[in-house]
Amino acid sequence: MDRKVAITGASGFVGRNAGSFLDGKGFEVVALVRKGRAGFGRTVVTRDLAEKKLAAQVGGSDALLHLVGTGRQTTESDYETVNVSLTRNAVRLCRRAGIRKIIYLSGLGVGKSSTLGYFISKFKAEQEIIRSGLDYTIFRPSYIMGKGDPLSSMLAREAARGQVVIPGSGKYRMQPIFVDDVSQVVMRAIFDRRFSKKTVDLVGPKAVTYNRLVADLAPRARIRHVEFERAYHEALVSAKGPFGVDDLSILVGGYLGDHKRLARMSKLAFTGYGTMLKYLRE
Ligand SMILES: NC(=O)c1ccc[n+]([C@@H]2O[C@H](COP(=O)([O-])OP(=O)(O)OC[C@H]3O[C@@H](n4cnc5c(N)ncnc54)[C@H](OP(=O)(O)O)[C@@H]3O)[C@@H](O)[C@H]2O)c1
Repeated sequence: MDRKVAITGASGFVGRNAGSFLDGKGFEVVALVRKGRAGFGRTVVTRDLAEKKLAAQVGGSDALLHLVGTGRQTTESDYETVNVSLTRNAVRLCRRAGIRKIIYLSGLGVGKSSTLGYFISKFKAEQEIIRSGLDYTIFRPSYIMGKGDPLSSMLAREAARGQVVIPGSGKYRMQPIFVDDVSQVVMRAIFDRRFSKKTVDLVGPKAVTYNRLVADLAPRARIRHVEFERAYHEALVSAKGPFGVDDLSILVGGYLGDHKRLARMSKLAFTGYGTMLKYLRE
């Protein structure tokens, strides 16, 4: 059977991992990027997913995996443009190309009563997809971890400089999931009817505090707790720090999800927290 998938945001962390994985599983992969080459499948450069030529290039795909997104705003790149408008364009591309299924990575904690700008934009993107009439799977991920993921890369950079900063108490929790498991789940979601028209938490088997995660990933680094007010102020005045303002809100949100449902639906044996750490340390 010919299997084909198109991936937006193919140059990002999840895109690179899921794209190479699906390529290795025999999918024809169309990697949509805004510049450069994806390093797997067939790369197609697109500014905003709206060019007419795209439909022919992604046509025949079993699904569009929509991974374009941002968790930090700048004056050039805001949530409405990146998270909402480009999702609208992704939906239109599916319609034009006759792709029946869209798979989207939203965020854990997103919901109708969200008050955070990032979550609101993800909620609006979800609504674009749900109302599109397409088949869909919306995943709401906690922190996706693997070689080169944004969180462990940031911790590695800080550790190399001699100290890791923990905003506030560090007692807030998260439910990291291994990126290889995410790739497997995404592949299941392309064809398995159990994932049809569903919104599913994409979370690992274990909840850990940020303190614990930092100790596990940077065991020899000096830890410095900074007052949350100070971390927040630094995030407000500079885009260069380890956290953006919304990163901090999501951290202290302590969002946890329903791993059992994900395991039941996917029938996958998920990578345990300890094993994931071993892969990250290799
Ligand atoms: N990783 C996680 O732990 C996590 C957790 C929750 C939700 N998510 C969501 O999952 C999706 C993928 O995450 P990721 O970790 O792979 O993120 P990532 O590494 O930051 O990749 C994001 C992708 O979006 C593209 N992009 C950003 N702004 C764009 C714009 N204005 N126009 C076109 N493309 C743009 C980037 O292109 P360039 O490479 O050219 O910059 C990149 O390919 C995102 O929607 C993210 O919000 C991820």
